[in-house]
Amino acid sequence: MKMKKGFFLALLLLFSLVISACGNASTSGEKAEGGGKEGKLDIFSWWTGAGEEDGLKALIKLFEEKHPDVPLENAAVAGGAGTNAKAVLASRMQGNDPPATFQVHGGAELNEGWVKAGKMESLNDLYEKEGWMDKFPESLIDLVSKDGEIYSVPVNIHRGNVLWYNKKVFEDNGLEPPATFEEFFKVADALKAKGITPLALGDKEPWAATHLLEAVLLGTLGTEDYGALFNGELKWDDAKVKTALDNYKKMLDYVNEDHSSRNWQDASQLVANGEAAMNVMGDWAKGYFVNDLKLKVNEDFGYTATPGTDGKFIVITDTFGLPKGVDNPENVKKFLSVLGSVEGQDAFNPLKGSIPARTDADVSKYDQYGKDTIEDFKSAELSPSLAHGSAAEEGFVTKVNQAVNIFVTQKDADQFINAVK
Ligand code: GAL
Repeated sequence: MKMKKGFFLALLLLFSLVISACGNASTSGEKAEGGGKEGKLDIFSWWTGAGEEDGLKALIKLFEEKHPDVPLENAAVAGGAGTNAKAVLASRMQGNDPPATFQVHGGAELNEGWVKAGKMESLNDLYEKEGWMDKFPESLIDLVSKDGEIYSVPVNIHRGNVLWYNKKVFEDNGLEPPATFEEFFKVADALKAKGITPLALGDKEPWAATHLLEAVLLGTLGTEDYGALFNGELKWDDAKVKTALDNYKKMLDYVNEDHSSRNWQDASQLVANGEAAMNVMGDWAKGYFVNDLKLKVNEDFGYTATPGTDGKFIVITDTFGLPKGVDNPENVKKFLSVLGSVEGQDAFNPLKGSIPARTDADVSKYDQYGKDTIEDFKSAELSPSLAHGSAAEEGFVTKVNQAVNIFVTQKDADQFINAVK
């Protein structure tokens, strides 16, 4: 009996040794600690597929030309606005297995999230070495800084409050793109009477409805009160917010019936093929229209600020930083240097639909939309995006997404306000 037990224990020990050896083998064979497969620098984002990945691919290609000795891995996880990627990232960060670098929005998502949790390295030395302090707008450096330390490098500036419209549909119906809510509802009625869906929405991923809501909030409240909403000076149950929710509710009367089964690309497609006249989406939609659908700026589609937001600019900035505990921080910095260079920004942004974060990029590389947006950014009143992580912490964004999702079907303003206030 005793011998049997000893034998059994020895067997157990052997078994566990084999298991742990296998574990080590697969760890070192496939995945280096803190890095991508076979020790490659894994670049983590949610830029996959239509309209999203062209800019990233161009940036990776540029890096590989400059640093053929540093292998990269594109570790993107599909899903607009980080719908799935953010969850994957969170579990990797919690498991001390950070990607070499990852996409993160400047503002609260970075500072109140990963920086506050002590997960990011300061990049002040890189900014000094690269001479970046006066190359990025101060407002943008502020968005990626906390307590005097800079934590990431912006690759772009996207504009959130853009109304895209099908030129032919507008021309054929003798309509002008609306600048105010009043004009919007007039145009929308005229389109509806002709059997054309006035506004395309694709909120299968709920952030797209929040994206529309924030544009309506800014258009109704103005820059100051919109900002006050996020620093607590204006309460969510203020009468002004109710007016904004009224506008939002009214707009939802004009959207396609199948909105909840479409994503943002599918909704943009309705505008592209003339089934719908307008949609409200960040200017990654321009990347999709031009790169994927082969449409022409100002011929096939036009753009204007969403109702009430002329001269106002919802800022979304995608940035990349250096997580603590990665295997090869020097190589990550090499990637960040390329991403923050004029060449890097001008490889990425004309394809992505965004404008360069740097102020000294080569404007001639951008189409008319890009040129107009570069100009607008200089003079506009800037507001942080809620749907894209700058205005408030991730936890609050999730709460709003859930409440908006319910609002879209139930249209109950008080219920919405109670959920988010
Ligand atoms: C935003 C991101 C953009 C774009 C968009 C749609 O959050 O900043 O770069 O990717 O989501 O996925």
